[in-house]
Amino acid sequence: MKRLADKIAIITGAAGGIGRATAELFVAEGARVVMVDVDGDALGVIARPLGAAAICVAGDVADPGTAKRAVAAATEQFGGLHVLFANAGIEGRIAPLVEQQFADVERVLRVNVLGVFNFVQHAAPKIAAGGGGSIVITSSVAGVIGSPGLGPYVASKHAVIGLMKTAAIELAPSGIRVNTVNPGPIDNRMMRSIEEQAAPEHGDVVKAGFTKQIPMGRYGANGEIAKLALFLASDESSYCTGGVFVADGGFVAA
Ligand SMILES: NC(=O)c1ccc[n+]([C@@H]2O[C@H](COP(=O)([O-])OP(=O)(O)OC[C@H]3O[C@@H](n4cnc5c(N)ncnc54)[C@H](O)[C@@H]3O)[C@@H](O)[C@H]2O)c1
Repeated sequence: MKRLADKIAIITGAAGGIGRATAELFVAEGARVVMVDVDGDALGVIARPLGAAAICVAGDVADPGTAKRAVAAATEQFGGLHVLFANAGIEGRIAPLVEQQFADVERVLRVNVLGVFNFVQHAAPKIAAGGGGSIVITSSVAGVIGSPGLGPYVASKHAVIGLMKTAAIELAPSGIRVNTVNPGPIDNRMMRSIEEQAAPEHGDVVKAGFTKQIPMGRYGANGEIAKLALFLASDESSYCTGGVFVADGGFVAA
């Protein structure tokens, strides 16, 4: 029996490293997925090999209309909704708090916090109507500790933990479990951006510095986060709600 047999899921940020790996894993485990991303072209290329198991919705998660369209696609084209993986996020500009620009801060909070809020708000009633399911939100190790230069991002990733905890309490009577995954540094575009912004043309030095702080001595892979999202999306995590699930090679324990 596949672990997500007959489940219908929405995945945001599905054209990115973690979102793509999760969409591919969810489909391999029997799910049908509505893939959402602001980069519609990349989304189309990634979704094509998944065939009829994937529908693409291009749009900005900070726009409530994108959430409405994704939920409508799930219910009208696939016939229901059981899982939301609210994963889209941006790192923003790396700079000390006192040098951050208002517009950059606002953009990070709109995408990373309002984007999650919009999808939880529109998906929850449909998941409840189908008898319950699971909402997984991508926070970060930056949701449990501070990080110099990443103020807006850290604020946004702490904020979604508060949102998750409240949603877990409010939605438990509807049979909906709500948890966060909290990745440490993952070997993909977002970390390349953070490394290069922190030390232009010397990103490798920044990477070496981060790696030293990770007890397991390496960055994680997209697929390692996808496997955690799969566990939380599936019925295997039937008693898990309101939880902060760190996958970081020991980063925040050190
Ligand atoms: N990469 C890491 O080291 C790391 C660590 C901890 C947490 N995270 C979180 O994981 C999540 C996924 O990021 P990733 O690592 O796969 O990076 P990524 O940049 O590869 O993927 C992010 C995806 O989100 C999409 N996106 C960005 N803004 C959007 C918007 N407004 N509307 C819709 N889609 C939008 C991008 O187009 C991209 O495809 C993010 O929430 C990120 O903060 C990443």
